[in-house]
Amino acid sequence: MNEVEKENAEFTRVLMSEVQQKTAQLTDALDLLTQSYDDTLEALGSALSVRDEDTGAHSQRVTAYTISIAKTVPVPLPYLTVLARAAFLHDIGKMAIPDKILRKAGPFDDAEKVIMRTHCEIGYNMLTRIPFLRDAADIVLAHHEFFDGTGYPRGLRGEQIPLGARIIFVANALDDILSDRPYRNALPMSHARKEIRRCAGTQFDPKIVEEFLSIPENHWIQLRANLGSPFRLTHPRNMAH
Ligand SMILES: [Fe+2]
Ligand SMILES: [Fe+2]
Repeated sequence: MNEVEKENAEFTRVLMSEVQQKTAQLTDALDLLTQSYDDTLEALGSALSVRDEDTGAHSQRVTAYTISIAKTVPVPLPYLTVLARAAFLHDIGKMAIPDKILRKAGPFDDAEKVIMRTHCEIGYNMLTRIPFLRDAADIVLAHHEFFDGTGYPRGLRGEQIPLGARIIFVANALDDILSDRPYRNALPMSHARKEIRRCAGTQFDPKIVEEFLSIPENHWIQLRANLGSPFRLTHPRNMAH
């Protein structure tokens, strides 16, 4: 080996070890980043809970239900992560709704309905500015669209509505039915199944309804009783429902 070849070999060796070192550092940094993403989400979620405790608990349950349905569909793992974030933050825009509407016990009048409905756009505007939540923001914007095109805010129909929003909408309805409301007590799972089936094709995507109905009742009851941090459910080692 002449001098030039020796120098080249040495240069390549140093370069390779630097690449290896940088790759290891990057992997560590990515792990840390994933953890801080989850921490950021939970902090955002708890900010909403401080404002409105019911909505905070609702978000946790909707996230768990969304993940269960999405795993049955199934959706690819990277999309599941985006979807879980969207589910957890779907009502984050309610932070900007005045207390007298947010905490109202009775049904809303027309003017109040208009204000309440803005939570979709407000949520979208909040999240779209955060790069790792931009994809989730599109789903949040569409979480009150009806499959038949009569929902809001844009009146999207069928597959124009992001898949994730169609899943969250079913999970959201499920939690509403199973929870106490100011004007009625919680209703049983049997009622939720009947009601969601009845609205397949109008409010809900019939294919998603079918996936939902294929999950045994007992699963939902257990899930509701054992909610932990919802994001752990998206980790590959927890891939059962
Ligand atoms: Fe909502
Ligand atoms: Fe909701």
